[in-house]
Amino acid sequence: MARNKRSVRSIRKKRSARQNSSARQNFLIPNLKKNPKTMSQIAVNIKNLKLKNPVLTASGTFGYGLEYADLVNLADIGGIIVKGTTLKPREGNDYPRMAETTGGMLNCVGLQNKGVDYFCKNIYPQIKDIDTNMIVNVSGSTLEDYAECAARINELEKIPAIELNISCPNVKQGGMAFGVTTKGAASVVDAVRKVYDKTLIVKLSPNVTDICEIARAVEDMGADSVSLINTLMGMAIDIEKRKPKLSISTGGLSGPAIKPVAVRMVWQVAKAVKIPVIGLGGIMTAEDAIEFFLAGASAIQVGTANFIDPAISVKIADGINQWLDSHGYKSINEIIGAV
Ligand SMILES: Cc1cc2nc3c(=O)[nH]c(=O)nc-3n(C[C@H](O)[C@H](O)[C@H](O)COP(=O)(O)O)c2cc1C
Repeated sequence: MARNKRSVRSIRKKRSARQNSSARQNFLIPNLKKNPKTMSQIAVNIKNLKLKNPVLTASGTFGYGLEYADLVNLADIGGIIVKGTTLKPREGNDYPRMAETTGGMLNCVGLQNKGVDYFCKNIYPQIKDIDTNMIVNVSGSTLEDYAECAARINELEKIPAIELNISCPNVKQGGMAFGVTTKGAASVVDAVRKVYDKTLIVKLSPNVTDICEIARAVEDMGADSVSLINTLMGMAIDIEKRKPKLSISTGGLSGPAIKPVAVRMVWQVAKAVKIPVIGLGGIMTAEDAIEFFLAGASAIQVGTANFIDPAISVKIADGINQWLDSHGYKSINEIIGAV
């Protein structure tokens, strides 16, 4: 633990000059000052997972956390959901994999990662002592893949939870295919629940007719929480080349453009299930996050906004606290599901 803390500290020290540069002061949200005397209570529990604050970073948008240790105090984040991990290594899709769109971006990265063995051997030792919840996002092409990958992660003492990705729109096999039918979604959760005994979060796809049905199906199979939404399937075309902007033509849309869809789905799902809901989709500010809590989310994730400001999740957590304080709330629980 000491060694990892030291290395994180030394990286941070070395680059502190950059942190203080004027460029960093110009990010979207100003640094908010903490006033411990009046701060509200913002710790929440997702089953056995205790979050010191309700802000997590979304999978695929914050690497393994380590990459940002020089830019933000990782211990100030409620939890870090690391890159999608699969049983076997995956190359991901060809480039181009990203395209900017109005109010958001499209990606078709396709779950590029070095596989669970590599994760356990090389990444886990580096992240296990980061003083926050390190959560692994698990994906697969078959039920067996999901279950085996989850079983391997179950053995890692310092990983308190997994997020099951049954909603990736950018892979040919598995991924979203499981998440768009109640039967498919239930079968993955059933297979994983049998081998995974810690907190199991299931990440839902918005690319469905009735997200509440899917949420209920995974709840019935033993999911401890649902997170939503993953990206919305989209497409952008280069009109001069007459070609799609992404290598596989379509991709997942994220960022502020999807927020109203995400808020609507969180609101619907929070009323349909008893397990806690984790909301995400387009959150850029503390006020965005408050919308999700009012809609029924017990915690939130920040994704695309990390590409603009890697310290945004901490600023949002501070901002939530200040908002609660200035509106006279003592605890975040007073606003969860209030709409
Ligand atoms: C570049 C990129 C990579 C992503 N990779 C993953 C992934 O590996 N697993 C996953 O469940 N979601 C992945 N997502 C989806 C995000 O975690 C999140 O659900 C989505 O971007 C919506 O949130 P946002 O609008 O705040 O970004 C990825 C998103 C982006 C933009």
